[in-house]
Amino acid sequence: MAYFDNGNEIFKQARRNHYAVGAYNTNNLEWTKALLQAAEETRTPLLIQASTGAGKYMGGYKVIKDLTADLMDSMDISVPVILNLDHGDYDSAVECIKLGFSSVMFDGHNLPTDENLAKTREIIKLAHERGISVEAEIGKIGENQGADGGELASVADAKLFVAAGVDKLACGIGNIHGVYPEGWKGLNFERLQEIATAVPDVPLVLHGGSGIPREQVEKAISLGIAKININTEFQLAFQSATRKYFEAGKDQDKAHKGYDPRKLLLPGTEAISDAMKEMISWMGTPSIDSKVKSAGFDRASLNEE
Ligand code: 13P
Repeated sequence: MAYFDNGNEIFKQARRNHYAVGAYNTNNLEWTKALLQAAEETRTPLLIQASTGAGKYMGGYKVIKDLTADLMDSMDISVPVILNLDHGDYDSAVECIKLGFSSVMFDGHNLPTDENLAKTREIIKLAHERGISVEAEIGKIGENQGADGGELASVADAKLFVAAGVDKLACGIGNIHGVYPEGWKGLNFERLQEIATAVPDVPLVLHGGSGIPREQVEKAISLGIAKININTEFQLAFQSATRKYFEAGKDQDKAHKGYDPRKLLLPGTEAISDAMKEMISWMGTPSIDSKVKSAGFDRASLNEE
């Protein structure tokens, strides 16, 4: 039976030992398989997360939980997997706690700090009673800002939320979700250093992990980032491989049933796994053991009816 790790020890060790563990958004069945496959092949821990939008798209959080658990069983996944709600509002966080996600992010950035803190405390209580981990966000990590990036998190807020008992803390340090704009100023390492010094034991989270140059990712990890959230990077990898399939006219190959969704979604699915392996090497995530697993997706079954 699949078991979801709450990740607390995994991320604490990552912060202590200056590496990071990837937190990847899922969007559908293929995405979930691609993430699990790459984690198993590299023998590294994995955090799969669902945004509220993905929750709606995929038919609800229960579908995501059951799908992930069932795939872990059928794919014989033997590395630790954490299932996280990404940017949840209060109701979604409560729902995922009750459903058995092993981690939730409560994002109360649009509330006044007092109310955000009060609600975060409620979520922490509910989650911790069940051994579930909680992430909070300070400093709004926005979408598609200008070159200055999102709002910078304050050191005082970092202390407040850590004192409230959060297990992981996402902080705005000039990072944004989506594609970084032309002329983006880069991560604010000064602020990251200040926050890392103020909360030395809590794993820090970098949202908007797609498209940040490798040397900045490595520096952020050396200063205390232990979890890196990635979605856009894999969407672009999926899009580019899928485009190549169509541009090569493979979908038109009737003799080989190139129009079969199982075939036309495969290059994109493999591209997600490859992109994830590349990110794992950037983050220095160590393997949990040296077991060798067979590589690749099952191609033979694609010709079965
Ligand atoms: P990107 O889509 O920019 O990689 O951000 C993902 C993220 O931070 C999810 O919380």
